[in-house]
Amino acid sequence: MAVQCTFSIIKPDATRRNLTGAVNAMLEAAGLRIIAQKRLRLTEERAKAFYAVHKDRPFYDDLVKFMTSGPVVVQVLEGENAVDKNRQVMGATNPAEAAEGTIRKTHAISIEANSVHGSDSPENAKIEIEFFFTPEEIVG
Ligand code: CMP
Repeated sequence: MAVQCTFSIIKPDATRRNLTGAVNAMLEAAGLRIIAQKRLRLTEERAKAFYAVHKDRPFYDDLVKFMTSGPVVVQVLEGENAVDKNRQVMGATNPAEAAEGTIRKTHAISIEANSVHGSDSPENAKIEIEFFFTPEEIVG
């Protein structure tokens, strides 16, 4: 399997609890390299655009409100099979269903405040990376 990039967000529930380093340590322990990273506050407009694919879901408005409630850390992760590897390290969307040792099992509070986002495919990883980063900001 070739080296891949994926996109990750450390969400407001995790930055609020000072867990950026703890999450990063779990990503790095899994063999993912953080090759770009910045902390920012999403505006309502940017959060709506990022999650546009969910705009008809009942949780969309609450999701946008939550994602704009505090700082996030957006990242590009590089590694062998990075998209799937990151999804394994994150664990299931709902922390109640996440496996032991995953980020969400260890740190997440609820299905909404679930600490991290990760791309679900290489195609979406590319779109999501380009939503937040210029090529100059990504240093592999
Ligand atoms: P994320 O990977 O960021 O993608 C969409 C997010 O919607 C998801 O993680 C959850 O945090 C959030 N969400 C809130 N409620 C639900 C729900 N009922 N089902 C799926 N995702 C939800």
